[in-house]
Amino acid sequence: MLSIQNISFNYDNQTLFENANLELGAGEFAFLIGKSGSGKTSLLQMIYMNLLPQSGTVTVGNFNSRTIKKSELPLLRRKIGIVFQDFKLLTDRNVFENLSFVLEVTATPKKDIKKKVNDALNEVGLSHKRLNNPEKLSGGEKQRVAIARAILNDPLIILADEPTGNLDPETSGEILDLLQKINKRGTAILFATHNYEMVRKGNTRIFKIEDKKILKGFLKQKDQ
Ligand SMILES: Nc1ncnc2c1ncn2[C@@H]1O[C@H](COP(=O)(O)OP(=O)(O)OP(=O)(O)O)[C@@H](O)[C@H]1O
Ligand SMILES: [Mg+2]
Repeated sequence: MLSIQNISFNYDNQTLFENANLELGAGEFAFLIGKSGSGKTSLLQMIYMNLLPQSGTVTVGNFNSRTIKKSELPLLRRKIGIVFQDFKLLTDRNVFENLSFVLEVTATPKKDIKKKVNDALNEVGLSHKRLNNPEKLSGGEKQRVAIARAILNDPLIILADEPTGNLDPETSGEILDLLQKINKRGTAILFATHNYEMVRKGNTRIFKIEDKKILKGFLKQKDQ
């Protein structure tokens, strides 16, 4: 489903990846770790095809970074849900409207919007806060709204970029549980984090960016 083959990527003055590879099957869950500045966010941007590698290929479903046209990017992005550390919710509208907005811009029929939004809010346990402004929610609740927004279009994969970076340990654990529940329904998840506690708790595959490569494995003693 997600395949990163032999990519090299550099910014103007810095090489982040050299012949790096990563494969994630449909419905798989993996953490993405690596020290600050190693390129986790940049890699997620390449999967979203906001950045393109200078060589090699990124494939997501039927979309290929070598052949994708600008006009196809919105279609790709409907297949990818994104969750950020700082939530990125709109504060000039309520929770329901934060979600319905996403479906309006993708021209979803009006009659389907209400059901999809309500289903997503149910899934994250926040139906009762649908009329609240996001500013009046706790950090954990904001992240649940962001996750509801990410699953609206039933994506192939959720890219989570340090989704628990602003949350306390208990709330972080709840967000991990929620993402694991969503994963069990068949959505692949790539979860970038610095939090080894989280990685241990998640007890699943790991990709680690090191020396411009993406290493596969499980948490090692020295990482803990
Ligand atoms: N738009 C850009 N132009 C030039 N350099 C950039 C750009 N974005 C990021 N970088 C640099 O690329 C490197 C990798 O950044 P990136 O944000 O991908 O790392 P990261 O692993 O996500 O780090 P963190 O754990 O701190 O979030 C950093 O040295 C950063 O300064
Ligand atoms: Mg980052």
